[in-house]
Amino acid sequence: MSDYMFMLESHMRPQQFAIVQLVQAAAEQAGLNVYLSGGAMRDMLGGFPLQDVDFTVEGSPAKLVKQLAAKNGAVVLAEDALRKSWELRFPSGVVSGIGMAHEARYARPGAKPQVKPATIHEDLRGRDFTINAIALSLNRASRGLLIDPTNGQGDLEAREIRTTGNYTLYDDPSRILRMLRLKTRLGFEVSPRTQSQYENVREAKLELKITPEQLYHELRAMADEPNPGLLIETLEREGLLTLFAPSITGAKLNLPGHEKLLKLRQMVPFGAEFHSENLGLFLFVLTEKLSAKERAGLVKFLGIPKADLATMTKLDAASKKLEATLKSAKLNRASLVYQTLLTAPGEQILYLAYKSAQRLVQDRIKKHLTQYLPGVIEITDQEVSNWCGLAPEDEKFPQKRKDYILGRLDGRIRKPAPEPVPEPEPQPPGRMLRQPSAARAPR
Ligand code: CTP
Repeated sequence: MSDYMFMLESHMRPQQFAIVQLVQAAAEQAGLNVYLSGGAMRDMLGGFPLQDVDFTVEGSPAKLVKQLAAKNGAVVLAEDALRKSWELRFPSGVVSGIGMAHEARYARPGAKPQVKPATIHEDLRGRDFTINAIALSLNRASRGLLIDPTNGQGDLEAREIRTTGNYTLYDDPSRILRMLRLKTRLGFEVSPRTQSQYENVREAKLELKITPEQLYHELRAMADEPNPGLLIETLEREGLLTLFAPSITGAKLNLPGHEKLLKLRQMVPFGAEFHSENLGLFLFVLTEKLSAKERAGLVKFLGIPKADLATMTKLDAASKKLEATLKSAKLNRASLVYQTLLTAPGEQILYLAYKSAQRLVQDRIKKHLTQYLPGVIEITDQEVSNWCGLAPEDEKFPQKRKDYILGRLDGRIRKPAPEPVPEPEPQPPGRMLRQPSAARAPR
């Protein structure tokens, strides 16, 4: 196995690596060359948490996508017919982009490009930033070969954002938003030449060529950023937020709201069983301080699809039942709060922690996130095994583990005392310092 394939396996979640294997096998069967590319490579090589698993195929991936949907239960989230690229969600929850390697020619800045199929090298050279223009071959003959025609690896090391060419931001001005998003997320510097390209594009007011569709694409991406509030602040400072909605300025930026949501998210312990859909919560906080008219204007201008909008508008009603359960006097044990919240949708939990006027509801959620979940993560199978006398492979073990967790949360089962560290056997003074005779340096 090449070093990069090994790196891939150790950096990805098992569900993500399973998708790499699945797509690799399906492409091979279809006789297509496939590469892991874009954000997935940047995040893996840069040591950042890997979000989506993106693939590029030489030739049209249309049939491959159809097959992944029919045979493997992948759901198509979005399709770009021009570039022949699809965004899929697999049953394991992994989101993956599959696109055709292509070359795009722009007649004018911001114009709809002419797209034609290309090789992976040509495709990478036409991408936005060098750190996004790296691919890894998943093909039998060259599996594990890194393709990095613009030295993206060097820029990852130097922590620098650099365009792949001198017209990158002119061709597609929406890339200025991507640049600021990447810069905010990764904390990288923009290279001086890219910065001056950015300034020239702004001087020419090319940001006005960004289409509402591209703006909404960015807004959706913002929802999944680790710190959306910081990005909003950056866009405001750069005078770019008004592109999305002229009404979002001053107090209507709702920076305290974004900060509050960020703090709540940060309470979720790493490795906990917790999943939340970000879009609805983000849209809620983004538009919280707008009037109904301003909100409707934003939705219309960006053409927010109904299904996406519903993730925001239905949040309040959808959380009511959970709120009622959480304030009930019946929920008088930690284990009951834990069980209720373990199966509740994460976005409802965070919404209630953000918005509920009920003190009890807020307290119970915060205890769940900051005490119960971290406590449960620490419980090892060995500990459960010592308590119940069953091996983890035993079919009754999962139920015993659940009983143990609930017992521990309610204090019915005590935390075991830490295993005593064996004392080193007493040695005659000086003996431990002596080296074994064979290893002694010759005199
Ligand atoms: N891309 C581009 N110009 C754009 C949009 C995308 O060159 N206007 C390229 C980028 O190199 C990117 C790839 O297409 O890596 C896939 O796009 P997308 O999935 O939107 O980007 P990711 O890098 O995967 O995602 P993100 O930046 O949101 O983590």
